[in-house]
Amino acid sequence: MTWRVRKLTVIAICLLSLSAWAQNWTNDPKTEKRIDSLLKQMTLEEKIGQVNQYSAGTPTGPGTGRTDYDDMVAKGEVGSLFNVTGQKANDFQKIAVEKSRLKIPLIIGLDVIHGYRTIFPVPLGISATWDPAVVEKAARVSAEEASADGVRWTFSPMVDIARDARWGRITEGAGEDTYLGSAIARAYVRGYQGTNLANADSIAACLKHFVGYGAAEGGRDYNTTEIPERLLRQVYLPPFHAGIEEGSATVMSAFNSLNEIPASSNAFTLDQILLKEWNFRGMVVSDWTSIAETINHGIANDGATAARKSFLAGVDMDMEANLYWTNLANEIKAGRVPMARLDEAVRRILRVKFALGLFDHPYADLSRTNTVMLSADHLAAAKMAAEKSFVLLKDDSINQVPVLPLKADAKVALIGPLADSAQDMIGSWSAAGQAKDAITLRKSLTEKLGGKLVYAKGTDIVGESEEGFAEATQAAQQADVVVMALGEDAQWMTGEAGSRSELGLPGNQEKLLEAVEATGKPVVLVVFSGRPVVLDWASGHVPAILEAWFPGVQAGPALTETLYGQNNPGGKLTTSFPRSVGQEPLYYNQLPTGRPAGDIDLSKPPTDGATKYKSRYIDQMNSALYPFGYGLSYTTFEYSPVSLSASTMTAADLNAGKPGITVTAEVTNSGKVAGEEVVQMYINLRGTSVSRPVRELKGFQKVMLQPGEKKKVTFTLGRDELAFWNIDMKDVVEPAAVKVWVAGNSVDGQPAVLTVQ
Ligand code: NOJ
Repeated sequence: MTWRVRKLTVIAICLLSLSAWAQNWTNDPKTEKRIDSLLKQMTLEEKIGQVNQYSAGTPTGPGTGRTDYDDMVAKGEVGSLFNVTGQKANDFQKIAVEKSRLKIPLIIGLDVIHGYRTIFPVPLGISATWDPAVVEKAARVSAEEASADGVRWTFSPMVDIARDARWGRITEGAGEDTYLGSAIARAYVRGYQGTNLANADSIAACLKHFVGYGAAEGGRDYNTTEIPERLLRQVYLPPFHAGIEEGSATVMSAFNSLNEIPASSNAFTLDQILLKEWNFRGMVVSDWTSIAETINHGIANDGATAARKSFLAGVDMDMEANLYWTNLANEIKAGRVPMARLDEAVRRILRVKFALGLFDHPYADLSRTNTVMLSADHLAAAKMAAEKSFVLLKDDSINQVPVLPLKADAKVALIGPLADSAQDMIGSWSAAGQAKDAITLRKSLTEKLGGKLVYAKGTDIVGESEEGFAEATQAAQQADVVVMALGEDAQWMTGEAGSRSELGLPGNQEKLLEAVEATGKPVVLVVFSGRPVVLDWASGHVPAILEAWFPGVQAGPALTETLYGQNNPGGKLTTSFPRSVGQEPLYYNQLPTGRPAGDIDLSKPPTDGATKYKSRYIDQMNSALYPFGYGLSYTTFEYSPVSLSASTMTAADLNAGKPGITVTAEVTNSGKVAGEEVVQMYINLRGTSVSRPVRELKGFQKVMLQPGEKKKVTFTLGRDELAFWNIDMKDVVEPAAVKVWVAGNSVDGQPAVLTVQ
């Protein structure tokens, strides 16, 4: 077989198996027939009933919906309820399948974002594992627990690329990079939906927020986004596309306006891209009242227009605005909305319900909750995920010995408002998570150290009182080493509506840190946050810093094992940590400028024209304090030069589907303990029709290496990696001078070069 035939055969086999799998729900003729038959029986009101979703529990936004749910469900006026679980969920389902005329089951949703009862690290934290298998497992655990409690649809994953750390919801995503974000999006979908959506422990995924929500101007939640089409296609859309290719059953339209058109009524992104270009067969739900909010955006003066615009653009289900229910019948009767559009929306919704097996098995077997919630396997997965999510930002030596791992016999002072805050450990959007399930760092360290631990809270997360400072510094004086647990308030400062205009440690925590550091005791700073925090002062004064995010129910054990070296931290940042908030938005894959600062020392203010008229700040460096991809380990890794299997390729060959080259580097564990390294491949293209980023991630692999062990790590560099949206808006490979790095982060390494002719 020639390579071409081989390749075609492989593609054919893949397509066949993919379509066989995809047929499970996206295009199963039997299901489509059942839908046809239902559609024939449905009245206009029953059809419109299916396109409404209401929150029947604790609201997660301002309510405008109706509340007589029992009655509404019985009359077939509701397609979906959310924020309702357990027996209550089954009770509603019983009304739907026993009392409504056509017995169409409800689809019951909830924001299951990073675990259901067993809470994992917040998504930004889990992305720092750079480990799709860990993400998939977390999603699987979430699905097993949520489905046992009546939830068959999660509003996750959030696959919004976020380049601005001020945005509170950066915590809910996988950070700033499209390539990594796409791999993680796929992993979530696989985990939630399992091998077959119809399994009782599978839940439908929902890729959100379509699209551009993460680019909110100024990082202010719900704010305007302006994203040119090329950037949209290159950076913001691919994680959605990846999730859809993986089979995600649903998509949520976003709150933001995108290029002057609200995302929830944006026909270009919804109808043109999602439905026509990508052939998405699942259903689109709006975000909470986002259809009504198009009135605030100014593109509709009344509910009828808002409903019509969103519906025609492709939003199938109205979350909580109640505008489809109140307006669609009139719009259809008046001929402003075709009946065919309503049939299409209902078909998509029913398709997902059939796919989930809800017509055959509408109820949750609640007895399963007894065995699945917080099971040993789930807790072990949560602990492993937390351990792998920690990013060691700094670990200086004192008398030639790194401060971390801590010595077993050291007397430890544990100080700070996050040391014993179980509620913060479970982060924002913690579904059925309960603070009492979370083990804090204080609890774990107390168990381990007994009398060798002294604890002082020191201060609150927010507030100016220094009352606790004296106790904290006294605790430090009594100890050999200080562990400071500082950071953000998970509920208030991170997640939805948690945008911040300052990114330092909140309140007077940095002042407390300074006071404790002044005691002269070595300080290990453990940062709990849902975003990059400005650690400029700490990085210059504190010998060891560990970014812990909000680690979930196993926070304490995972951290304790990490601090004492039973776990070697191997997480890497998926979002750039700025030196100061004024650098935001800050991301590694920026475009080059016409006036790059080159090798000017940017730590000094400019003194003349040669140092001033550059793309720089006069009072701050350009670089991140801790860049994307960065993270230390208790061991060290060395990289060989990068070798390429060929130094030229042609754009024509690659565009014709011929294979690319391989890129290899050898990685050696040059330290004394075993460790996992995330080996990253970056590229840069020059001489292309449009400007390309200074570096772009195009591959990553995690390798576990014993001390002294070496491994060759090989990546493919071909069409998928080299193509981009060019000046003609075509996704193609162009002739280019290419640099290729294989390194442990986005700034290190020496590139190999090749030419695409
Ligand atoms: C609003 C949020 O933007 C969205 O992410 C969430 O899924 C819904 N509320 C439902 O709670």
